[in-house]
Amino acid sequence: KIYQIVQGKRDEPKSPCPGWGKEAEKTPVKEVLHVSSEDRALEVLLKEDRVFPPPPHFIEKAVVKDQTPYEEARADREAFWARQAERLDWFQKWDKVLDAGQAPFYKWFVNGKLNVSYNCIDRHLNAGRRTRAAIIWEGEPGDDRILTYQDLYREVTRCANVLKEMGVKRGDRVSIYLPMIPELPIVMLACARIGATHSVVFGGFSAESLRDRINDCQAKLVVTADGGWRRGNIVPLKKNCDDALAGCPTVEKVLLVRRTGQEVDLVEGRDFWYHEMMAAAPIGCEPEQMDAEDMLFILYTSGTTGKPKGIVHTTGGYLVGVSATHRMIFDIRDDDIYWCTADIGWITGHSYIVYGPLANGCTTVMYEGSPDWPDKDRFWAIVEKYGVNILYTAPTAIRTFMKWGPEWPARRDLSSLRLLGTVGEPINPEAWIWYYKYIGRERCPIVDTWWQTETGMILISPLPGVTSLKPGSATVPFPGVEAAVVDGAGNPVPPGSGGYLVLKSPWPAMLRTIYGDPDRYIAQYWSRFENMYFTGDGAGWDEDGYFWVMGRVDDVINVSGHRLGTMEIESALVEHPAVAEAAVIGKTHELKGQAVSAFVTLKEGIRGTSELAVELKAHVAQKIGALARPEDIFFTAELPKTRSGKIMRRLLRDIAEGRVLGDTTTLADPAVMTQIKDNYSSQE
Ligand code: WT7
Repeated sequence: KIYQIVQGKRDEPKSPCPGWGKEAEKTPVKEVLHVSSEDRALEVLLKEDRVFPPPPHFIEKAVVKDQTPYEEARADREAFWARQAERLDWFQKWDKVLDAGQAPFYKWFVNGKLNVSYNCIDRHLNAGRRTRAAIIWEGEPGDDRILTYQDLYREVTRCANVLKEMGVKRGDRVSIYLPMIPELPIVMLACARIGATHSVVFGGFSAESLRDRINDCQAKLVVTADGGWRRGNIVPLKKNCDDALAGCPTVEKVLLVRRTGQEVDLVEGRDFWYHEMMAAAPIGCEPEQMDAEDMLFILYTSGTTGKPKGIVHTTGGYLVGVSATHRMIFDIRDDDIYWCTADIGWITGHSYIVYGPLANGCTTVMYEGSPDWPDKDRFWAIVEKYGVNILYTAPTAIRTFMKWGPEWPARRDLSSLRLLGTVGEPINPEAWIWYYKYIGRERCPIVDTWWQTETGMILISPLPGVTSLKPGSATVPFPGVEAAVVDGAGNPVPPGSGGYLVLKSPWPAMLRTIYGDPDRYIAQYWSRFENMYFTGDGAGWDEDGYFWVMGRVDDVINVSGHRLGTMEIESALVEHPAVAEAAVIGKTHELKGQAVSAFVTLKEGIRGTSELAVELKAHVAQKIGALARPEDIFFTAELPKTRSGKIMRRLLRDIAEGRVLGDTTTLADPAVMTQIKDNYSSQE
């Protein structure tokens, strides 16, 4: 047992750990890949024989019409990426495309100099796009705002001057805790302009989560808002921020955006209104010449320990990767209106609401609120209102729309749509077909895109004018990407079977390290298999070379397309005075994909009542954020552990999902399982 959590504290070795993943190795791959819902079993998926070739009307105008990029990349991968890099503006060209000298600390576009905000804004002004909409924003209460590229230039350069005025310098870190309002991308781009590193924290995270993230990156400035709208209610962002800042010694100032307009307390000398600072700031700010390998942002994501990892993305390779994938996968043409429904607090929003689309001079739509506010057709109303051509959303949303029924989209004119996308978790073929039929009206290809916070860009996906689609498969690696499915020893498995999903060569937008913890970077991603990046996902592949991603094989769960670490939630639970021990699993859920399910043992003399269960759920939501709130809490006298004390969550999943128990021979006391099993049904 390598990573051990003691009440939220991290205890990790300082060198790569060859022992990592041992538990997974002992577990037969087949068992790891087994998921309960019938239609996600690998054997069933691989029998999926519906194939959707690109429609002729689509191929005709497609950005990529044939195998050329695949062939180019196969012939010379680095030359392929260099060609993509040439689509950007560089102050100084790179000397070398890839430097693998200190692998796995890869460097891309060595000595190249560029600025991300210049590439996302200024160069479009000179290319006839001054008056094109850069951002179309729709607020939850129904207000809207359209920023042209010229508007974006004004706002971003002003904001860059505000940041400088507030003491932010090249290399400093800025934490951003904002709702989905235009100021969010504006502040991100302003940071990029002056060479500061941003770290966006999703507005649904708690004060405590915000505090940990601010402290980990030692931010100097925090940008937040009075509040955010969610289903007509106000999320108290400033209040959470104040609570967090009580424990953040590095933060000097706060920049405060007015959104909801409710009363907030201002700390004299620390807090400054955004609108006042902006009004006083000049337009125009020379972009910093950044090195391709300078840090652009840090984004925290959950891993297998109790502490989230600060994923580090840099400037050159990242922008090359996201702009190239955005253009080819979403088939971006000159007058497109493109909408990715994610929150910018996650990587999907960073790469495919902000950086990819703006680098391509595209029009990107941003929506502030909930899909059912004021009614269940809000998404379709937005598609109709702006004439959205490309829609990128998540399987969990699609399953929710399915449940609401096809009458909601049927009310609206969706004829502008020509391409659909999904991301975040495996999509069940049934949801794929529903999306295809009721949203795409059997006319739009669907790009199922596999990637991660760490990969920065999409790695496995169809190219919609080229690739035949199979519902439930993310299809094939993007040109220049080498993915494989391997067994526990790192050997490729034959087509028609499953194993671990790995990446066999580096790609430009890959993470460079974990902020402040390079050893953990190696241990986490590069130690499980030699010379291969371990994704943490299980997958199968078929005779056509199509990948079928099944989900996480580590202690990470995926709730509504968002990643949560089981140990993070367990740490939060054991901080409650009634709890002795906790084990958290992801239990298959028809809408969320997985739901958080907790097995809890209580301290001596405390009884597991339904009131206590309610209290524990609220406790987790308050500690981490509403996303992590357990769906159910199960009280038990014991947890199943191996002789070395590792909790076998896999067996708990078997129970929660009503499956035949997997191998229990490594348990210290196999009788524990019978006990839990007998009690489980009675509590449920
Ligand atoms: C994990 C990454 C990157 C976007 C949002 C999530 C799962 C993501 C797919 C897909 C099957 C998928 C994987 C991956 N995942 N996209 N198309 N098919 N699984 O980012 O929070 O870093 O989570 O999401 O399990 O490892 P993330």
